[in-house]
This record gives sequence, structure tokens and C-alpha cells, in this order.
Amino acid sequence: AYEKLWLAASVLLILLLIGSVTYGAVGPGVAMVSDSQPTIDAGGLDEDERFSEPRVEQVGENEYAAYVVARQFVFQPDPIVVPANSTVTFYVTSADVIHGFEVAGTNANTMVVPGEVSEITVETDGPAEYGLICNEYCGAGHHAMEGKVNVV
Ligand code: CUA
Repeated sequence: AYEKLWLAASVLLILLLIGSVTYGAVGPGVAMVSDSQPTIDAGGLDEDERFSEPRVEQVGENEYAAYVVARQFVFQPDPIVVPANSTVTFYVTSADVIHGFEVAGTNANTMVVPGEVSEITVETDGPAEYGLICNEYCGAGHHAMEGKVNVV
């Protein structure tokens, strides 16, 4: 009977560990609500009207789309300016190698792959400035690859 008790206890411990990993990434202010990976149009980045001019566009009453290009060693546009108390979907792609896109201090975080579009949707809070960091090693300037997300 003690074996069963120990087994139940260790299963519970494992579930608690998984739970803490899942919920540990949730941060204040900008909260990620979805994450998917559509692909970029055939013809490449410069031919894709979403990314030939990286920008933020209003797409609904309180909804915005941010088209972002990561390249060695910048994010474009910089800063990414988005309204407070709105829904913002970031569409992020890379012009060269794999990068990361992490809004510092939040759970908005995705890998950025050339030829693919990483899509993450967040709800913004009150006005704030966030650092934007690349968290995938991408070359000599990786450590200095930073941008800003300004919620205004
Ligand atoms: Cu881009 Cu590291």
C-alpha cells in the first residue's frame, strides 16, 4: 500500500512541476493569447507587401497588426508603437537567419524563422515601454540585437 502512495505522490509532484513551467512565463502588461506559424508568400520578403515596409496598421476598431522584420542585428520598425488597451497581432519574419522575438518581462515570445511568419496576439495594458530582445543566437551582433515596443 505504501508503494501506491509514493507513486501517487510522485505523479502529483510531476504535475506540479509541469504546471509551474506552464504558468511561470506569464508576465504583466502584455499577455500572449495565441501563437501560430503561417508561411510567407512565395517570392520572398521584398515581394511580400506585409513586410516590404515593416509597420503597425489598424485592422479593426481596437485591433492592430504589427508587421515586423528581424534581421542581423535589428528589428524593424524600431520602436514598434502600439496603442494601449488594444489587441495587437505581431507578424514576425526574418530577412536572414533564425532570430528570437521576446517582449521583455512578458510571455510574448516566439522564434523567428526565414520564410515563415510567426504570429502572436497580445492584449496591451496601459502605456509602457518594453524592451524587445533576440533570444536566439544569430551571429556576431546577437548580444546587441534589441528593439523597443512602446505601448502609448
Ligand atoms: Cu537575432 Cu540573436
